[in-house]
Amino acid sequence: MKYSPQQSLLIWYEKNGRHTLPWRLTKDPYPIWISEIMLQQTQVKTVLERFYFPFLERFPSLEALAEAQLDDVLKMWEGLGYYTRARNLHTAARECRGTFPRTAHDMISLPGIGRSTAHAIASFAYNEPLPILDANVKRILHRFFALSKRDEKQLWTYAYQLFDPNHPFEYNQAMMDVGATVCLAKKPLCDVCPFKPACLGKGSPDAYPEKKTTRSKPIRTSVIRIYRRDNRYALMQRSSRFLHGLWGFSETVNLPIGSTDHFLGDITQHYSHFTLAGTVYLSDEPFEDERFEWFSLDEIKELSLSRADHKAMALLRYNLDQKREDGC
Ligand code: ADE
Repeated sequence: MKYSPQQSLLIWYEKNGRHTLPWRLTKDPYPIWISEIMLQQTQVKTVLERFYFPFLERFPSLEALAEAQLDDVLKMWEGLGYYTRARNLHTAARECRGTFPRTAHDMISLPGIGRSTAHAIASFAYNEPLPILDANVKRILHRFFALSKRDEKQLWTYAYQLFDPNHPFEYNQAMMDVGATVCLAKKPLCDVCPFKPACLGKGSPDAYPEKKTTRSKPIRTSVIRIYRRDNRYALMQRSSRFLHGLWGFSETVNLPIGSTDHFLGDITQHYSHFTLAGTVYLSDEPFEDERFEWFSLDEIKELSLSRADHKAMALLRYNLDQKREDGC
């Protein structure tokens, strides 16, 4: 019988696919959508163990998410990072007005849903015959068709070429699984790959796609100052685009160190476009800024903080614990 990549993939998926992933056991687009957005952020294991179930318990339906306060959504997203995704989920839920779109075409008009994500949700929930093109699928296509140049438009053409329109759900899930477990970025397991007989890149998988030119990220230094007054600490809710909605301590490019400032430590946080190198101080200097509010340590636990502010908070707690041990 003639080799068919689609047939081979289907057989492989039947035997090796991760069939019990909870978002594969439902046809409801809402949890599928949530899972897709979380999985853009981190790996399956982390989503399963820490984020998927608590989020759906807190916001069990599209309506529940639409009615939620943004702060509560950000809180459930805490630890996943890249909060724009959480804000988009919230905005999109409101824009849906009770009904999730029925087609990929309509999904794309929602914030945070790009073409590949729309195709994923539509193929999983409604069996719409559309291929996905996430990072793993891109790697498979680059190798299968021996494409060294990174060209998104061209890749979509190849994505349709390899696609199996008769089994959109299985094909797309299987491609994700092959990408995650077989066609690995480093040391792919070509011997067990369902595409091996037809893959043009199997002899030299490292050649496809060509390596990105890596530009090192700029480092931004800043002073993070935790102002204290009567055992309360000053935080403000960010209104700028970056980390919008998250609470944080005073952060300045450079401000002279006050006489009561106490060095707590240094933190580093990697963001997509830069690395933040922050020096953290506890300050009992007088501080007046109407954008800031004063919170107790217990109240801070209820706020959504950025990762950098969490790290600053950890330094503060450590310092306060040390003081307590020293009997100060
Ligand atoms: N990554 C993105 N979507 C996924 C899915 N449906 N299953 C496993 N990993 C994924």
